[in-house]
Amino acid sequence: MGSSSHEVDVSLPNPARIYDYGLGGHHNFAADREAFHQLLEVDPDSRTVVRSNRAFLRRAVRFCLDRGITRFLDLGSGVPTVGNVHEAAHEMNPRARVVYVDNEPVAAAQTRRLLQDQPNTAIIEADLRDPDAVLTAPATAELLDFSEPVALVMASVLHWVGDDVADLLDRYRRVLVPGSALVISHLTDEDLPEQMRRVEAIFDETSAPVTYRPRSRAAELFTGFDIVEPGAVYCSEWRAEPHERLAEPERSKIWAAVGIKS
Ligand SMILES: C[S@@+](CC[C@H](N)C(=O)[O-])C[C@H]1O[C@@H](n2cnc3c(N)ncnc32)[C@H](O)[C@@H]1O
Repeated sequence: MGSSSHEVDVSLPNPARIYDYGLGGHHNFAADREAFHQLLEVDPDSRTVVRSNRAFLRRAVRFCLDRGITRFLDLGSGVPTVGNVHEAAHEMNPRARVVYVDNEPVAAAQTRRLLQDQPNTAIIEADLRDPDAVLTAPATAELLDFSEPVALVMASVLHWVGDDVADLLDRYRRVLVPGSALVISHLTDEDLPEQMRRVEAIFDETSAPVTYRPRSRAAELFTGFDIVEPGAVYCSEWRAEPHERLAEPERSKIWAAVGIKS
């Protein structure tokens, strides 16, 4: 593991590192791996969940680039391996700019290291619930230009933010010009409530208890944005190729949507 392990309680599983392990990454500790194996016991599709989410994220990034959006502010970015935003973006446009934000010290340290040789990228170690810290950070000013459309990405992160998120989203929305994008993916328990109660119980033991929100909350989260087709759907369905779709989409447990600021 990286040099920042002394900064964190490695005995407490953390979503960033649990997710990294689920994706096949190497930026995790024994407690994170143990938590993921507990998740696999209550939800054998746990690997499918994280992979479907990451695959959605890649498609959403490409969608934004196709619309001419080349700047990305990725809140709750995790460890940017296994096909995260800058990898997907730079495959299409090496000049695309990506600012990652994560408050987990290991994820942030590993991101810093991984991005050393990656132009047009930066990581801000900050809490997304502090928009001023994010929006006034030097990296934000250097890489993003809010007079142009920006993609605000909140992939698989809002379910770690339990509070009412309306004011928070409003604060970010206000800096975006029309034509900017909002990308959200979100855990839900709406179709598999009993299984997701057991998942919730495991996350209750981690550093970040989970808050589920159903697809019906999408309209509210996307206030001020027009949600593009196909709307808020399970992430494995969102503009997916046939081979990416699941026979039972609810097994991806995460819904996803993209909106364009009107
Ligand atoms: C499940 S990972 C998702 C990673 C990536 N966005 C993706 O979808 O592939 C969630 C990330 O959000 C981060 N996170 C959770 N709460 C946060 C907060 N309040 N501020 C910043 N990052 C946060 C976690 O540390 C973790 O790295």
